[in-house]
Amino acid sequence: MTEPYEAEAGPERLASALMQKGALSSDWLPAFRRAPRHMFVPEMIWPGTAGGNRQKNRVIRSEEPRAWWEAVYTDAPITTQWDDGAYVGPGKGRIPSSSNSMPTMVFSMLAALSVSDGHRVLEIGTGTGWNAALLSARVGPANVTTVEVDQATAAAARKRLQGAGFAPTVVVGDGADGYAQGTPYDRLMATCSIGRMPYAWVEQMRPGGVIVAPWGPTYGGEAVVRLTAKGDGTASGKFLGSSAFMRLRTQRTERKHVREYLKGKPWPADGATSTTSLSPDDVGDWHVMFAIGAQVGGAFPWTESYKDGSYTLWLRDTAVTSWATADFEKDRVEFEVVQSGPRRLWDEVEKAHQWWEAQGCPGFDRFGLTVTPEAETVWLDDPGNPVPPLLG
Ligand SMILES: C[S@@+](CC[C@H](N)C(=O)[O-])C[C@H]1O[C@@H](n2cnc3c(N)ncnc32)[C@H](O)[C@@H]1O
Repeated sequence: MTEPYEAEAGPERLASALMQKGALSSDWLPAFRRAPRHMFVPEMIWPGTAGGNRQKNRVIRSEEPRAWWEAVYTDAPITTQWDDGAYVGPGKGRIPSSSNSMPTMVFSMLAALSVSDGHRVLEIGTGTGWNAALLSARVGPANVTTVEVDQATAAAARKRLQGAGFAPTVVVGDGADGYAQGTPYDRLMATCSIGRMPYAWVEQMRPGGVIVAPWGPTYGGEAVVRLTAKGDGTASGKFLGSSAFMRLRTQRTERKHVREYLKGKPWPADGATSTTSLSPDDVGDWHVMFAIGAQVGGAFPWTESYKDGSYTLWLRDTAVTSWATADFEKDRVEFEVVQSGPRRLWDEVEKAHQWWEAQGCPGFDRFGLTVTPEAETVWLDDPGNPVPPLLG
């Protein structure tokens, strides 16, 4: 009898694993037990892998109960929707658009939120409803509001929350607007990523309130940031560590095909060729991408891999005016670069990388973010030391 057994053993096994990793603290353990993950995972899922962004094949609970329970009580994310619901299987869609997040990430972010009894909390990205249930168990459902853009996802989450005995306010809408009716909030937690913090989030906090959100530039690289709202309409704070969330729907970047950049001509089209001693392999790590992306706005990379292990790193701008390629081949010290358009994208990346190296190759934890009504600024070590913006 897999199901009844796992319903008891699974949560305890996962709780121990999360506590050992230091993600689940004893103050969240009662909530973890009152809102078991299996009550919030739908019948049809695509299990993920810890630390990876690949999904395994679709699992349907009634057909493969063992695989379903194993996924639920593994410390990995679970994709629950593709392509905003347009794709249902049996394979995988193009873009995962809703999930039940990785438990380590959920509890690390909840810890960063530092909630106290009676805090009023706004969550952006209801998804399966698990995080809203955990928050409800902790501060009381009357103090929790959660906003979800996808109507069907919100309706399913509301049902699951009710089934588990919680009735927080579930709002269907664009989370970028926050939720003005419930202001001011003591805490805001976003479980979809942003490239620009909606100012409504800052406005809707009480002074001293805390915002925890995954923030990542268009270029790539992403980390959870923890901001404190000041009484003067600004919010500021440091990045905590790496994350990889789905983008807030209204901030997704449209990515045109390479063809559109080449304007019908075969590569290298009108591109100017040069060489570089910076290996394309040295700009691909998540934290390096973050540091580059904080400087190089409005551009994104894409890797075209070949069977022999070599690859072409493509850079394209969101305005569809400029592109660049840098070819990686093992054991080489010089790499061929081709650039086209008003922006010299590889030169920008190289310059951003030079700055990062000159700062001692900082990781996420040395960066911070300040949001004001006019702008948002990424800084290094101190709010007075902004990251130098290049172009975009
Ligand atoms: C990673 S999932 C959230 C996980 C969720 N907190 C849970 O406990 O299952 C991200 C969710 O954000 C939602 N989302 C994306 N853009 C949004 C927006 N503009 N406003 C509100 N929700 C949004 C997605 O539809 C998706 O359900």
